[in-house]
Amino acid sequence: MTVLAVEGLSKSFDGVRAAQNVGFTVNAGELVALIGPNGAGKSTTFNMVGGQLKPDSGRILLDGNDIAGLSPRLILRRGVGRTFQIAQSFLSMTVIENVQLAIAARERETMRMGAPLRGLHADEAQTLLDKVGVADQAETLVAHLAYADIKRVEFALALAARPRMLLMDEPTAGMAPAERKSLMTLVATTAKTNGAAVLFTEHDVASVFAHADRVLVMARGEIIARGAPDEVRADPLVREVYLGRSAGTPGGQR
Ligand SMILES: Nc1ncnc2c1ncn2[C@@H]1O[C@H](COP(=O)(O)OP(=O)(O)O)[C@@H](O)[C@H]1O
Ligand SMILES: [Mg+2]
Repeated sequence: MTVLAVEGLSKSFDGVRAAQNVGFTVNAGELVALIGPNGAGKSTTFNMVGGQLKPDSGRILLDGNDIAGLSPRLILRRGVGRTFQIAQSFLSMTVIENVQLAIAARERETMRMGAPLRGLHADEAQTLLDKVGVADQAETLVAHLAYADIKRVEFALALAARPRMLLMDEPTAGMAPAERKSLMTLVATTAKTNGAAVLFTEHDVASVFAHADRVLVMARGEIIARGAPDEVRADPLVREVYLGRSAGTPGGQR
């Protein structure tokens, strides 16, 4: 079942074609990777789907309804979530408080800044922390977490919105390879279990080929290749623009 269908999506910045006629679909329970060198247009594409950027043209169909140009808040309400870096002001709160607030936001409960959260959605929050593997850190301040655990909490915060479509722009950036693998395995398992559709970017190609069901390759604003990981890995054009000359060599993107 197609959750997201993007058609003819384009965006320019002062004459720079950041995204050009981009089209793809993502199905329920599917992990689709969007890869490509720096400046390829991956984040621009993500930001149009998430509503942070308005497309110049094109359609973004969520369950068949066009959401292109809606505000991020409305797009989230429709079921498109994304991972974000935890903002500075939330680092001084505990892990579980962050998740409690994310659940409250989903339930459209208005919270007074600094008001005690106590048991508010505590069971659901704890379940989410269990799911992402940081349950034992529930009472730890986010500021005191190891980097890899912060990334797991960011994933939990995105899940708290119960998205049917989850956007993850470099969710494992800065992580060590083993932790990266473990987080992507978690994302894949969660997507399959929840039936959520996931679109992610990732500069570590090994991780992409290990976890993605399908891969889209962007270069200079356009999708230049697409297919199963093995097909994409073998594509000469992809090797040329992204993977480098020798097979399996990670691309130089950071
Ligand atoms: N807000 C912006 N203003 C001007 N140019 C931008 C903006 N965002 C992205 N670009 C340009 O659009 C192109 C694609 O960028 P981006 O989508 O961030 O690529 P990627 O995420 O694949 O690295 C680049 O040439 C970049 O410089
Ligand atoms: Mg980017």
